[in-house]
Amino acid sequence: MDSQGSQTRKGRIKMGGMPGNSTDEKLRVEEARADFVARFPAYEKTALLDDLRATEYRRLDERGQVYLDYTGASLYAESQLQKHFELMRSSVLGNPHSASPASVTMTEHVERTRRQILSYFNARAADYVLVFTQNASAALKLVGESFPFAPGSHYLLTFDNHNSVNGIREFARAKGAAIHYAPLGMPNLRLDGARLEPLLDAADPARANLFAYPAQSNFSGVKHPLDLVAKAQRKGWRVLLDAAAFVPTNRLDLTAVQPDFVTLSFYKMFGHPTGVGALLIRRSALAELKRPWFAGGTVNFASVQGQAHVLSPNEAAFEDGTLNYLSIAAVEIGLLYLQSIGIDTITERVRCLTGWLLEEMLALRHTNGRAMVRIYGPATTEARGGTVAFNLYDPQGHLLDYRRVEELAGAENISLRTGCFCNPGVGEIAEGLTEEDMRAGFTLGADINLQSFLRLMRERGRKSAGAIRASIGLASNFADVWRFLRFLASFRDQTRLTIGDVSFDIESCRIIRDGS
Ligand SMILES: Cc1ncc(COP(=O)(O)O)c(C=O)c1O
Repeated sequence: MDSQGSQTRKGRIKMGGMPGNSTDEKLRVEEARADFVARFPAYEKTALLDDLRATEYRRLDERGQVYLDYTGASLYAESQLQKHFELMRSSVLGNPHSASPASVTMTEHVERTRRQILSYFNARAADYVLVFTQNASAALKLVGESFPFAPGSHYLLTFDNHNSVNGIREFARAKGAAIHYAPLGMPNLRLDGARLEPLLDAADPARANLFAYPAQSNFSGVKHPLDLVAKAQRKGWRVLLDAAAFVPTNRLDLTAVQPDFVTLSFYKMFGHPTGVGALLIRRSALAELKRPWFAGGTVNFASVQGQAHVLSPNEAAFEDGTLNYLSIAAVEIGLLYLQSIGIDTITERVRCLTGWLLEEMLALRHTNGRAMVRIYGPATTEARGGTVAFNLYDPQGHLLDYRRVEELAGAENISLRTGCFCNPGVGEIAEGLTEEDMRAGFTLGADINLQSFLRLMRERGRKSAGAIRASIGLASNFADVWRFLRFLASFRDQTRLTIGDVSFDIESCRIIRDGS
């Protein structure tokens, strides 16, 4: 069955506990795979990625690692490294934007990469400029500091946003703009359209208003509707689309949808390089931005005695100092690599694996029938990506400490992520934390940290603050998901957690026995 609408279809696979290498185990894996493919036949069409897994990502299986943190960072293919190294080995590359041969060669690489990125996102050069940044956060900060917020203007953002988007509110606040958050509905954590509408209508189109939202949530995996871009623009908003968690596994076509600002990091798309992100600015919005300073590389002319400067036009005004040019050379390699696979193949692969993961997680039960897992966000693959946030519960319905779960996963060579994933808003909604809870948290003052906050929330009767996140990406395969599900199944009927020789009491998080 390959339906996107099978909300609560029960998993059929017996996961058992943590078995050894028996023939039985092999049979169970084969049975599970056959069941998976029968339910998600489109997976077979993505076999190219199995070939790449065996070659480009062989280090995963050589090291017995299950990597499930693609929303944190994608993995690089071996050939990306080889090509990047070969390019640097065989070329003389200098600081760009000067007349020497070494500089010209590098400038050509940088400018070609700029054009390729625009072309990858189907953005016409007549519509967009591309600014190289250090990462998505630096791209977001550029928008925040340059946007002409003023008294009477609005900054509207969704509860579901990375902190680097939340942080823009400090620029907005400092310039006197009104700040509003668009709420999410429970339990799907999607934008509440009925409550968003009046917020969009509240802006005075004559003022500078900014609406910011993620194309895909880095917490719940929800894909927020892209048609909100044009809708908000019609109502007088500039729109910032944070595409950092969306573009690694989805097609973004900037001819079909034209946000005023798009932000992303390349390591999230193809693992290598780190340290390069991008801000795409729609030309019609570019003229409104006002940089609060200037730097080397951003000016056509600057004088000390005259104490004045003339900013360079277009992207150059936003690229402070020397670009990370050697890494930018690797962006072109990464883009070509993604294109050789085809982003639609990656989307399909992630959809199949996520669909199976969700169904099997929801089917996990303790012997007494209680659910072992609570998933935050949509339970099907409809309008959601491969990021799954959840918590585990014991047979009495008590939350298992996610920090311990992460340590146990690590002992099994499984890479997950836990906490709030720099997205506090969606976490607060998902876990039922109120404004009063959060204000109480801030009374802890400078001593506030996860530990003290969790203790306070427990005192206030809250069930959890934080979650476990598993995310699927281009190098994921069936075996990864199988091993992860088998790990989750090992919590069946568990009322205490053991790490190595150490046992913990789940309720108090106290060590109750150690092996020494
Ligand atoms: C949706 C989203 N936006 C922004 C960011 C920030 O990216 P970076 O840390 O590369 O600046 C992330 C990182 O996880 C993200 O998932």
